[in-house]
This record gives sequence, structure tokens and C-alpha cells, in this order.
Amino acid sequence: MRIITFGTFDLFHIGHLNILERAKSFGDQLIVGISSDKLNFEKKQFLPLFSFEERKRIISSLRCVDEVFEEESLEKKREYITKYNADILIMGDDWDGKFDFLNDICEVHYLKRTKDISTTDLKKRINYSV
Ligand code: CTP
Repeated sequence: MRIITFGTFDLFHIGHLNILERAKSFGDQLIVGISSDKLNFEKKQFLPLFSFEERKRIISSLRCVDEVFEEESLEKKREYITKYNADILIMGDDWDGKFDFLNDICEVHYLKRTKDISTTDLKKRINYSV
């Protein structure tokens, strides 16, 4: 089974590792769409702290990850799922229900987020501790 998931993965943290390892346990191959710097800027009006190339190197180095690619548009999930021949789409439950429309081409699962951590929260915590 081929699994696909998506994210920014800026300031890589334990919540990211948890979801990637759990995603991998659904099959044999894990493919990760990492959002481009441009996509992040369009979505949030600021750039990730770690560049796409840095985020890509970190994610690619994980034992649970088999393949990575650049996600250039949030609207292209169907295209990516088809291109990478994915059987299962895994998303965090912050997206609960939002990708159910793709279940004509793959299984869609939402996994519980790890409690009490996010990139946004980390940025705030770092700011308070310096
Ligand atoms: N994720 C998770 N548990 C967390 C944080 C993230 O399972 N505590 C998952 C998200 O649901 C997503 C993936 O990790 O499937 C990548 O999430 P991303 O948005 O890059 O990370 P966040 O820490 O949520 O970043 P931000 O605060 O910028 O939204």
C-alpha cells in the first residue's frame, strides 16, 4: 500500500514525527508532499523559518519516509494522489472531513494530532524564552 500525506513541517517537532510514523504504519511506502515556500507565503503571508530545501532534507532523512515532493498548490491533492499512485491519504485531524471528497480515488484517514505542540506554539515559546 502507498500512503501519501502533506504538510509544511517547519521547525520539525515530535508531532510531525508522530504523524509520519503512524502514517507509514498504514502501508509500505510513505510519500510526503512538503509545501513550497511560495505556497506558505500565499497562505500565511510569511515564509517558513526553514526553507523548502531544508525542510525537504530533514523529511527525506527520516527512516519512515520513502519519497518527498514539493506541494505547490493546496488545490492539487487529487493530481498528486494520482501521480504518486497513492492508496491512502493521511491527514491530521485539524483537517477532519475536508478531504472526504477524495475517497473516490483513495482511502482518507484523519489522525489525532499530538497534544500541546505546533510550529506556531514553538515560535511563541522560543520568543518568550530569550
Ligand atoms: N501535526 C500533528 N500533531 C501536531 C502538529 C502537527 O499530528 N501537534 C500534523 C498535522 O496535522 C499535519 C502535519 O503534522 O498533518 C504537518 O503539520 P504542519 O501544519 O506542518 O505543523 P504544525 O505544527 O501544525 O504547524 P503550524 O503551527 O504552522 O500550523
